[in-house]
Amino acid sequence: MNNLVTSTALTFRWLNGQCFEFRFPNGKTLITDPWYQGCGKLGNRCLPNFTTDQLEGGDYIFLNHTHGDHTANVQDVYDRFHSTVITHSATAMEVARCFNVPLTSIYPVDYEGTYYFDGFILETHHATHHRQPSNYTETVERFKGPEFPGSPELNAMGSIFNMNFVLTTEQGLRIAFIGGNDDGMLKRMQGLQKPNIIIRNKMASSKVKINVAEDFAEWFSTADTQLLIPMHYETWLTEDPEFAQKMITDMNRILKDKGKVGQVAPMERGVWYTLNLSIATIN
Ligand SMILES: [Fe+2]
Repeated sequence: MNNLVTSTALTFRWLNGQCFEFRFPNGKTLITDPWYQGCGKLGNRCLPNFTTDQLEGGDYIFLNHTHGDHTANVQDVYDRFHSTVITHSATAMEVARCFNVPLTSIYPVDYEGTYYFDGFILETHHATHHRQPSNYTETVERFKGPEFPGSPELNAMGSIFNMNFVLTTEQGLRIAFIGGNDDGMLKRMQGLQKPNIIIRNKMASSKVKINVAEDFAEWFSTADTQLLIPMHYETWLTEDPEFAQKMITDMNRILKDKGKVGQVAPMERGVWYTLNLSIATIN
């Protein structure tokens, strides 16, 4: 195929977990769930040698939820870029207590809201965390160690408050970001609400390694969207990279067998990509 013309919607890269760096056409930048370094023994799953100095921008931080592997580098990003920190309103005060951020730089948002930022529109969706068995006391106990960023309470809130979103760029391209369970989002994203691309956590925790490609491909084929970028599978990339690669190959095969146009992108962490709308000749 030869491109006749290409227009860039945005540039972006996956750093680790649910941490993405987005750069919009007007130059504004958004970092989701900052975790590219540290977080106790989970730190060995990060991209080696990536530091805050290598970030290119951080006008906004968005928190899908407030577990340590989603907040580990909030302070680092804020200190470098003086970001606006977008988080669910129920977590906003605890975020303020845990990080040295001016109160007026914390931007509380609620479920099912629409917010207008410089460079993008944010629509928020109620979500739920993948199932965890622990109650409040057990959760607080688990996150008490100094290796976990944020307070035990902030980490406990991470299991309760979970917020997915759809970004719309100023040119109208729609990107869904689904961190936990989709919680009805698939139904809400039909028709005119449909995104062009979905960035999604796997369907269950990293410990679940049965029917991963089948279940994920089934969900994506129901979404019937053009592109899917899986995220938060750094445990598999670290411990079982062949499994991670096979998940994507299998998903693309299943989608093809189903006659879907949707494709799954094996995004490499740390590499900048451009998302374009193109017209190309068909040879
Ligand atoms: Fe979590």
